Amino acid sequence: MTIDFILNGEDVVVKTDADVRLIDILRNSFGLLGAKCGCLSGRCGACSVIFNSAITQACLIPAFRIRGSEIITIEGFSQTDEFQDIVSGFSQTALENCGFCNNGKILSAEALLEQNPRPSRKEILSGFSGIRCRCTDPESLVAAVQLVSEIRQRRLYGRSA
Ligand code: FES
Ligand code: FES
Repeated sequence: MTIDFILNGEDVVVKTDADVRLIDILRNSFGLLGAKCGCLSGRCGACSVIFNSAITQACLIPAFRIRGSEIITIEGFSQTDEFQDIVSGFSQTALENCGFCNNGKILSAEALLEQNPRPSRKEILSGFSGIRCRCTDPESLVAAVQLVSEIRQRRLYGRSA
C-alpha cells in the first residue's frame, strides 16, 4: 500500500505492507535512527515519536494507521527552539539520560509541555509513564521538567510561568 503522511513537517509518501511497524518505516525507508529499537513490545519507550501531538511508541503503530498523520521524530525536533529548552533544563538539573532513553525523555517532555505548559508533579510522572529508566528517580525527573517549563516561559514571555 501507498501511505502519505507528514514527517518532521514535510509531506512524504511511502510504499509498504500494511502491518510494517512505524519504527521500521522510519529507520528503513527514511534513515531516521533516533527512535531506537528497544523491547519492540511497547514497554520501554526507546522508540518514542510524537504522533498527532501525543507521545507514542513507534513499535506499536502499524503502517495502515500512519496515513494522514503528523509525526515528529527526534531528528526533526532537534532543529527547534523547544528542543534547546529541554536540553538546557535537563542539563542544568543533571538529569540522567543515555542513548537508550534520551529520545523518549526529550519527546515525552515536549509532548507534555506542548499540551500543558505548567504540569504538576503528578502530570509529569504520568507523561513519562511510558519511558523505562531505572536510573532516574522521580523527583529528579519532576525538577528537570519543571525547569524546562520555566526556561520556556522565559524564552517565550521574558518571565517565569
Ligand atoms: S521499542 Fe517500542 S516501547 Fe520499547
Ligand atoms: S539513563 Fe538511560 S535508561 Fe536510565
